[in-house]
Amino acid sequence: DETKAGVKGLVDAGINKVPRIFFSPPDGFDKVSNPVKAQVCIPVIDLDGIENDPILNKNILDKVRGASETWGFFQVINHGIPVRVLEEMLDGVRRFYEDDTEDKRKWYTRDGLKTVVYNSNFDLYKGASTNWRDTTYCTMAPNPPSLDELPKSCRDILVEYSREVMKLGRFLLELLSEALNLNPSHLNDMDCAEGLALLYHYYPACPEPELTLGVTEHADYDFFTVLLQDHIGALQVLYQNQWIDIPPVPGALVVNIGDLLQLISNDKFKSGIHRVLANNVGPRVSVASFFTTGLMPSSKLYGPIKELLSEDNPPKYRETTPREYSLRHNARGLGRTSALSDFK
Ligand code: SIN
Ligand code: FE2
Repeated sequence: DETKAGVKGLVDAGINKVPRIFFSPPDGFDKVSNPVKAQVCIPVIDLDGIENDPILNKNILDKVRGASETWGFFQVINHGIPVRVLEEMLDGVRRFYEDDTEDKRKWYTRDGLKTVVYNSNFDLYKGASTNWRDTTYCTMAPNPPSLDELPKSCRDILVEYSREVMKLGRFLLELLSEALNLNPSHLNDMDCAEGLALLYHYYPACPEPELTLGVTEHADYDFFTVLLQDHIGALQVLYQNQWIDIPPVPGALVVNIGDLLQLISNDKFKSGIHRVLANNVGPRVSVASFFTTGLMPSSKLYGPIKELLSEDNPPKYRETTPREYSLRHNARGLGRTSALSDFK
């Protein structure tokens, strides 16, 4: 039952040393970014007015293309989701984790096919994964859960936020299609936004943040992710072998390319490697919206998009399903090399 209280449970119990299983990585690591490179920053793209101004539209597409090819990350502002909804979503996440009753613990499971999966590290007390955070995974599309299948503390806002983020996701897919010089509806027609999972995270304040990580470096296994982070910065992206901070920008959402979009774009777009530092302030909360059907059974096959291929640009990957890809990702665990290399 102790595990059902998560990392937060350890902190609440008054722990003042980071237990050895959380040491990460065991051989020490580079927390310091290069002071010169640290001034480099992922672009913040303002979507205001994009619909009715062709010049602005082209500028925005150039920025989306540039960021997707180099960083695999950008932020968007004036994205259409009201700030009230963003704030209520973050409040809902705090409520869920801080309501330490049966209403939270009953969602604790290791069965990745459940609609709601709350846990800390899957293998807490067993060793491999050692992240200073608790996590909940909610499958919101293609089969939206009924209200009583969702945690009481945040279900209304989960449903409202999902609806908003799905709308934004479909719009971002239009931009990403055009940034690939495809028809605007191409990626939506391929059903890249068919599946949506909300992963909401809680990173308790850590007594010895230099010994552990909020989350180990990894690439996301979906088509793309829309991330809502609170005001406590800790997210970093690997860029030219340096860790670069992704600072919180009020009202902004972070967008990152996932492995499946790197695969279907035949490496044109990059799935950015990122991690989250542990912090001595907190809790930090975030909500990652994963566009993929994940482990759900589906026979839909995805390979490099034919329109992007040529004699000089032959397919670099074989076809796969989101389910097969998610299974490979889970089997490998988090780390600097993604499962993409298994599909060459
Ligand atoms: C993640 O990439 O797993 C979480 C990102 C965040 O919490 O900022
Ligand atoms: Fe991630």
